[in-house]
Amino acid sequence: MKTVITYGTFDLLHYGHVRLLERAKALGDRLIVGVTSEDFDKQRGKINVQQSLAERIRAVEELGLADEIIVEEYEGQKIDDIRRYHADIFAIGSDWKGKFDYLKEYCEVVYLDRTEGVSSTGIRSEKTVRLGLVGASNNVEKVKREAAFVNGLLVAETWDEKEPLQAFLSRVDAVYVYSHPKRHEAEIRTALTEKKHVLVETPVTLSEETTEELFALAEKEGVVLMEALKTAFSTAYRRLILLLKGGKIGEIVSVDAVATSTEDYSKESKETLSEKWGSFEDWGPTGLLPVFDLLGTHPDSVRLFSKMHPAGERFDLFTKAEFSYPNAVASVKVGKGVKSEGELIVSGTKGYAFVPAPWWKTEFFEIRYEDQNRNERFFYRMDGEGIRYELVEFLKAVTKAGVHLEIDREVTGAISGMMEAFTNGEGLTVI
Ligand code: CTP
Repeated sequence: MKTVITYGTFDLLHYGHVRLLERAKALGDRLIVGVTSEDFDKQRGKINVQQSLAERIRAVEELGLADEIIVEEYEGQKIDDIRRYHADIFAIGSDWKGKFDYLKEYCEVVYLDRTEGVSSTGIRSEKTVRLGLVGASNNVEKVKREAAFVNGLLVAETWDEKEPLQAFLSRVDAVYVYSHPKRHEAEIRTALTEKKHVLVETPVTLSEETTEELFALAEKEGVVLMEALKTAFSTAYRRLILLLKGGKIGEIVSVDAVATSTEDYSKESKETLSEKWGSFEDWGPTGLLPVFDLLGTHPDSVRLFSKMHPAGERFDLFTKAEFSYPNAVASVKVGKGVKSEGELIVSGTKGYAFVPAPWWKTEFFEIRYEDQNRNERFFYRMDGEGIRYELVEFLKAVTKAGVHLEIDREVTGAISGMMEAFTNGEGLTVI
């Protein structure tokens, strides 16, 4: 009996997949199909697969060509599988020609001609969502670059403020609002009223009530409103939160996050500063994210300490926020005119989590204990600082493809609430 093995993502199963599996099956008596897991696809840079693993497995199963279906989860697994299942032939499409020659040591390798004119990427791109950019900043350039990796999403154009926003909106399906936070409210409201989906750079607005009202408006208009905070979409950060919530370091007693990026503000005036993002507006949401994710959005007390720019009343060069909870404390230190080590440390009764700088775009973290032999290190791939993943989730939400990920609404509200406290000077001491 001859066993054939083949692998693929098989997203949105199409004619090309069917033909490949038919021919692979015909090469022997038994066909094993390896379907890639979500994590493995992410690791190898394939980020916007639309169907879940379960859906893709079901689709392959329903074809009735596979005698066995396995999940491909890690690099190098093919060698393990070939040995374990005593595969005689490894078959794959000709787009991989030469890439799997190293398997010839273990079995026969056959490249089957790829079917012309059809691919999952093509199908995903058929219904392209036209994304307009609202706002000007260096980060907008990053968004443009990252959107190129997300099939089905096209950055159509950037809004030129000389044109009325409504007119611009008529040419796009969705917008990424990246303007100064004080403009968000008006721009989001206009976009939602025009029934355009909105991805907005954090903070959504500078008031919790307004943010909540805008989410209600989005629901009423039947469009998506999503907060963009790239760290929240990075695999390493998400896994860290899950591990900590699962009790990996015991009871969490302290969350301490630092994020800074120093610029020279010495020549700025009150007018020029009013168009710039202060430290708390810019870095605050990132620093607040692990605090709210781990300890909840209702601290007992919050104190803010800021060093302001001499020319701008509310332009903070540095802010430290201190929180107390019934059984824990937290601190967030952010600066654009003050530099510090951008690390995240979460202290618990059994150990602590250490995420080295820059923790907000990390691929790595360590869980440390008194007994160093128990220390564990975790690594995850990160592409495009997380922007790419957040665009993928937004696209999924817009196209209603599968289940999408988004920041907890309570966390979003609490972040806006903290911005409001800062703007109103609540609990704020100027140093
Ligand atoms: N395949 C094929 N003909 C096509 C598309 C895919 O023969 N038109 C083959 C691939 O070579 C591979 C298998 O089907 O052996 C599974 O491919 P997969 O990567 O899941 O499909 P693609 O359509 O190539 O996906 P994507 O566009 O996301 O890369």
